[in-house]
Amino acid sequence: MEYDNHEHTWRRPSSLKLEQTTCHTTPRRSTTIAVVVLGLAVLSCLLGYCVLSESLPYESKTLRLVIILFRHGARTPVNSYKSDPFKNYQWPDGLGSLTNAGKLQLYELGKKYRNYYANFIPEEYYEKDIYIKSSDKSRCLMSAYTFLAGLYPPSERQLWHPEIPWQPIPVHSLPKHLDDIVAQTKPCKVWKSMYQELLDEKNADPKFAELFDYLSKHTNQSMRSVLDVDFLYSTLLAQQDAGLKLPDWTRNVFPNKMRTPFMLSLALLSYNKTLQRLKVGLTKVDSQK
Ligand SMILES: *[C@@H]1O[C@H](CO)[C@@H](O)[C@H](O)[C@H]1NC(C)=O
Ligand SMILES: *[C@@H]1O[C@H](CO)[C@@H](O)[C@H](O)[C@H]1NC(C)=O
Repeated sequence: MEYDNHEHTWRRPSSLKLEQTTCHTTPRRSTTIAVVVLGLAVLSCLLGYCVLSESLPYESKTLRLVIILFRHGARTPVNSYKSDPFKNYQWPDGLGSLTNAGKLQLYELGKKYRNYYANFIPEEYYEKDIYIKSSDKSRCLMSAYTFLAGLYPPSERQLWHPEIPWQPIPVHSLPKHLDDIVAQTKPCKVWKSMYQELLDEKNADPKFAELFDYLSKHTNQSMRSVLDVDFLYSTLLAQQDAGLKLPDWTRNVFPNKMRTPFMLSLALLSYNKTLQRLKVGLTKVDSQK
């Protein structure tokens, strides 16, 4: 998949030109897993053979494997900006933490998958049926756990405490510097230099100049990169979600005018075929095992 700059959306490229790169490449044709952004929890259900409920939109009635990718739930802001009126706001759980609303989102998502795959995922948790991977970020691990609380409410037999309708289910993760599967935070020099090149190119796009000026003026700090806009957008969104009243100047640009550079910043991580192969290559290989 490629990010279309004009349409602001993902599309399939018309030609597949494969290249050899040094960090890691996918051995075979791969197009499916492309939109892997930061902070994912990955869940894969490995089950034998099962008949789906009639309502599923597939022609084939044989489902063997389900891979579910999702991000963490709503969180508090990770950082602040110079003129931020909430710079000293005391977030009860600290910066960058999963909020109760975020926990509920993932719990509900787990319940949704439980219903959707009711005939595929056995009611009782059994270790060999499912393997859950998360990045090593606390909010991602916590999201995975709350998702699992929704997916696997304990059966009567598995209930181990009369007052706790929850059962422990393992979530696996690699430390940040080794993670080449989920958050892809393991350093990769080739990827990094290509990413930087693209980032510089996009930041110099005259269409963002006016927005960059406006944001720099009002935040009282340099806002000259789509990455800066990405961080600011996430901060404003988290503050708004928490019911805080954003400063008046944000009304002209948030969320609408900031959305395009924000999305572009996320898209740049796996912007074209080469970056995708370097970044999500192993996710694909790993999930084929
Ligand atoms: C902007 O930054 C300057 C220099 O750091 C400071 O003097 C000024 O008070 C700041 N303005 C706002 C609105 O934060
Ligand atoms: C992807 O972008 C990088 C950086 O601009 C470039 O070096 C690389 O050749 C591009 N790959 C493709 C397939 O366009």
